[in-house]
Amino acid sequence: MVDVLVTGGAGFIGSNFVHYALDAHPDWRVTTLDKLTYAGRRENLQDLDGHPRHRFVRGDVADPAVASPLVQGAEVVVHFAAETHVDRSLMSAGEFIHTDVHGTFVLLDAAREAPRLRCFVQISTDEVYGSVPEGASRETDELRPRNPYAASKAGADRLAYSYWASYRVPVVITRASNNYGPRQYPEKSIPLFITNAIDERPLPLYGDGLNVRDWLHVDDHCRALDLLIERGRSGETYNIGGGNDVANLDLTHRILHLLDRPASLIEPVADRPGHDRRYCLDTAKLRTLGWEPQTAFEIGLGATVDWYAKNERWWRPIKEGSEAYRAYYDRQYARRG
Ligand code: NAD
Ligand code: TYD
Repeated sequence: MVDVLVTGGAGFIGSNFVHYALDAHPDWRVTTLDKLTYAGRRENLQDLDGHPRHRFVRGDVADPAVASPLVQGAEVVVHFAAETHVDRSLMSAGEFIHTDVHGTFVLLDAAREAPRLRCFVQISTDEVYGSVPEGASRETDELRPRNPYAASKAGADRLAYSYWASYRVPVVITRASNNYGPRQYPEKSIPLFITNAIDERPLPLYGDGLNVRDWLHVDDHCRALDLLIERGRSGETYNIGGGNDVANLDLTHRILHLLDRPASLIEPVADRPGHDRRYCLDTAKLRTLGWEPQTAFEIGLGATVDWYAKNERWWRPIKEGSEAYRAYYDRQYARRG
């Protein structure tokens, strides 16, 4: 059995990866370590309760008493756990430093004493490159993060590299573009817009709506990570991009069209401070290992809209039953006017 530690496995990408990994690898035994913040949902893994090859541990990656023994028992670590929302980082960055930077340090330090560890995947992000007015970011490009989330991820990204360079911890760093798919917390743009559109509520579009993101289906992301665990070279960084560069306004129209809702639901609101105009990744390095995205954007977006339409019992309790969500929403959007 291969012992795999997944941090942040109750969140969006992490929970998709845990399910993917258990299905794809009958010889993997997966431990999920997750603090269950607002974004971590125990129900994302509920169907795995009693699964003979999965166990859930609630804990903070920045707490060595919990995290270090788990790292030291693992052959593979996939480190997703993070505070992830740019807008939240602009309101208050402390938790981002705690989890994304200090938490990563705690795991890496434990990894120095992990006798069986063969791969530590540091899940970074394309946002570390900063805004890319033209062309596509390559792994060797300078990092120019421009908001506290991106900066905390850039710090963790380079910290992970330093543990390879200094101590030969077998680190592989991945920089993925914006993910979409099932179980994404409904304050990120795609699930927020889909669920607001279902309820015929306004879709708050920042600025002129012409900021561009490169959308990657979460299943394609999981397949890339699987490949890199087997074939990624320690100390190397790999971009993972969907190749779907779409302006937010275009994306919003597509969502409204899929749900048969009018364009009048689009509500232009004040822009995000320091809003990165465009991200775009060069994925040639990963493609040489044999990966390419398999999900066409129209198909993946349609399936994602369907998932939210059919799984109201997943998102309605968050949007309607949670005081914290409403407080966040009011605070975030009231000031945008
Ligand atoms: P998410 O916000 O949905 O989930 C994050 C998870 O981490 C949650 O389950 C949360 O409870 C957990 N967590 C937070 N702080 C923790 C702590 N201190 N200890 C243990 N667990 C903690 O995030 P996501 O969208 O699934 O992103 C996962 C990773 O992928 C992050 O590292 C993020 O930076 C990276 N990433 C995300 C995207 C994207 O588009 N979502 C793109 C590129 C990279
Ligand atoms: P988001 O899903 O927050 O991802 P990120 O900021 O990490 O790229 O946002 C995606 C894009 O959508 C980004 O350009 C900001 C924009 N956006 C809106 O226009 N309105 C919103 O309410 C949100 C949350 C995001």
